Amino acid sequence: MLELNAVSARIAGIPVLRGISARFDAGGTIAVVGRNGAGKTTLLRLIMGFVPLLQGNAAFDGRDLATVPARDRVRLGIGYAPEDRVMFPTFSVEENLRFPCEVIGLSRRDVDDRLAQTLDIVPELKPMLPRSGAALSGGQGKMAALGRAIMAGERLVLLDEPFQGLAPVLAQQYSASLQRLIAARPRSCVVITESNRSLLGDVPTRTLVLERGELSQEAAPA
Ligand SMILES: Nc1ncnc2c1ncn2[C@@H]1O[C@H](COP(=O)(O)OP(=O)(O)OP(=O)(O)O)[C@@H](O)[C@H]1O
Ligand SMILES: [Mg+2]
Repeated sequence: MLELNAVSARIAGIPVLRGISARFDAGGTIAVVGRNGAGKTTLLRLIMGFVPLLQGNAAFDGRDLATVPARDRVRLGIGYAPEDRVMFPTFSVEENLRFPCEVIGLSRRDVDDRLAQTLDIVPELKPMLPRSGAALSGGQGKMAALGRAIMAGERLVLLDEPFQGLAPVLAQQYSASLQRLIAARPRSCVVITESNRSLLGDVPTRTLVLERGELSQEAAPA
């Protein structure tokens, strides 16, 4: 599905990603683990098109991502839950969830269907729907950001360190949602970053290790 080939990126002139090659195939959850500053967030932002690709290439279903501007990547079925989650405070949680699908012009009916599927995958969101996007706790915000990424990311869901600071009960619910997500959408792939790999438990089907901007090894499946 997503193939990175010797990808490099710089931020403020400093090399942050160096010659990264990796395949992200459907039907699994791929963890990218690495210390603080290793480049995990930059990798996800590069896939979203928020960080320019300096060298190498990235292809999604064989299509060169260099030809797809950031604003069109959601249309490819890529959803993203950033580290700092960002919910629109003047929207309800439901409006926040629907928003990316509305922006890409999905019909009301399709958005309703996706919302129903998302609520099956993350049932904890149901009671939150009418609440303001500004009225969520940190953990609830992470569940909502997961829901929003699932709504948009029919093929690829990118999650930046969702387990950081999540209480154990919520972390369990989050993991269960990821399992339901892959079961419900076998054609999709989940990429999850983490600096503390013990937080991931048995969630990943594959683990990549990012060290100072280089993908240093591919650990055996857990
Ligand atoms: N806006 C920025 N300006 C300058 N340097 C930056 C900027 N954003 C990131 N960097 C640098 O790029 C490198 C990779 O950062 P990145 O945020 O991708 O790491 P990370 O693995 O996500 O770290 P963390 O675990 O702390 O979230 C770091 O060395 C960081 O200092
Ligand atoms: Mg980060």
